[in-house]
Amino acid sequence: MGHGGNVIEELKADHREVQAMFDQINALPLGNAKRRDIADEITIELVRHSVAEEMYLYPAVREHVPGGDAMADKEIADHSKVEEMLKQLEGLDADRSEFDTLITGIIAEVVAHVTDEENRLFPALAQVCSPQQLDELGDKVRSAKAKAPTRPHPGAPSTPPMNKLVAPGAGLVDRARDMISGRGRS
Ligand SMILES: [Fe+2]
Repeated sequence: MGHGGNVIEELKADHREVQAMFDQINALPLGNAKRRDIADEITIELVRHSVAEEMYLYPAVREHVPGGDAMADKEIADHSKVEEMLKQLEGLDADRSEFDTLITGIIAEVVAHVTDEENRLFPALAQVCSPQQLDELGDKVRSAKAKAPTRPHPGAPSTPPMNKLVAPGAGLVDRARDMISGRGRS
């Protein structure tokens, strides 16, 4: 979803949104079936955000920031660690203990990633890019994110194309990634 503003404001707003979903899932008792629905939303939002960063943010970091390659490599490694856990989460019902372990792990990993990005990467990028460059990157990130649907309210009925994305069974991470990155499309 688009928040407006330059790339740093846009991505920070995403971070706050994901944190709000973490708060929602943590507020529900363990085993509550709604935790499964929120996990799907978290999955889609995290993949949406990661793909947009990988397509536009990290290439800009590599190009403009001194030492940017190492920074980008680290963030991408963080993303794959999280995505691996999201894939393990896909097929699990909320009453499984593995479900809770994975949610806890994902939240810890994402919170650390967000802190690192906001304290280290964003300030470094802001120092070397012009306000116009940051605005343009914001627009690109917004257009990438718009390629996957958003469910407006937790628990709202799934309508196309969301129902297609959150089909039962495994593969949500890959379907979301394909949809946003255009992977597998000619
Ligand atoms: Fe991020």
